[in-house]
Amino acid sequence: MNKKVIIDCDVGVDDALALFLAFSSPELEVLGVTGVNGNVSLPKVMKNIEKVLTLIRPSNRPWVARGADRPLQGDPAHAESLHGEDGLGGVQIPPEEAARWGQVFLGPAEDLIIEMARRYPAQITLIAIGPLTNLALALQKDPEAMRQWNHVVVMGGAVRTSGNITPHAEFNFYVDPSAAKQVLESTLPIILVPLDATHQVPLTPEVMEERVRPLGNAFAQFVVQTTGYESRGGHFRGGRKAFYLHDPLAVGAVIDPALVRKEKLSLSVEVKEGEFYGKSYEVPGGEENTEVCLGVDREKFLNLFLDRLGSCPLK
Ligand code: RIB
Ligand code: CA
Repeated sequence: MNKKVIIDCDVGVDDALALFLAFSSPELEVLGVTGVNGNVSLPKVMKNIEKVLTLIRPSNRPWVARGADRPLQGDPAHAESLHGEDGLGGVQIPPEEAARWGQVFLGPAEDLIIEMARRYPAQITLIAIGPLTNLALALQKDPEAMRQWNHVVVMGGAVRTSGNITPHAEFNFYVDPSAAKQVLESTLPIILVPLDATHQVPLTPEVMEERVRPLGNAFAQFVVQTTGYESRGGHFRGGRKAFYLHDPLAVGAVIDPALVRKEKLSLSVEVKEGEFYGKSYEVPGGEENTEVCLGVDREKFLNLFLDRLGSCPLK
């Protein structure tokens, strides 16, 4: 029986790979994709969602909704040095009319998030792989509806490890700490997939040479181009020695929950400006209501990711 999901994303490269994984997995039925400011600006995120859906060509034409173009507090921050100026490493994909491969939702993303929770009470999972602005807006607008989500799987935070945008903060929480705090302190059934887990699943030059390139298909080419992988130097965009599969792991944890080892913790997020801005931290004596993925079966996840995408019928 497949699981109904909505994916809230800031397409970027790993978001795109997460969408490919979700749409090519029979365990999931992706009913909608919502965009939020994050890796790149919202207009680029929405363009990238169109591009990725054009490559995937989903037969069920999922809803596509436009979300927040800025965080609840502070100015938009982006990560173009990692994802490229357009958010997909400059890969050339003609963005066909979104209506062709997705149904354009006329309201804001938070309304689609609320509507789906009401339509499928306790039957649908929200996978949030960008800053949590849309989720916070939905919580503010209709907290009772939001409690209907069966699970809310969030890629974000750095619990017992260092950050990736500052020494203390992970990018999604750093972009909108206020939203992250509101979501983590809500009564939503959250499964958090933090850097503690996603840093265990890097694409490395070895994986690229031994597992990705040999696929010899459009997906392999997409991964090489969007990550900026260079065989000669054995590095990714910006000279990086690894490209982490943050968002695909969040999707993987929904496809096969046995992939991750979870602990229940009480978490919050620093919202004060300063060195620790956006840092996620354990609340001593707090109610331990967040399931936090701290362990990953790395080989099992990589096999799932590469098997599914190796057979992904990219156009
Ligand atoms: O810190 C990694 C997260 O921030 C990923 O979701 C990546 O796509 C960016 O949104
Ligand atoms: Ca993301």
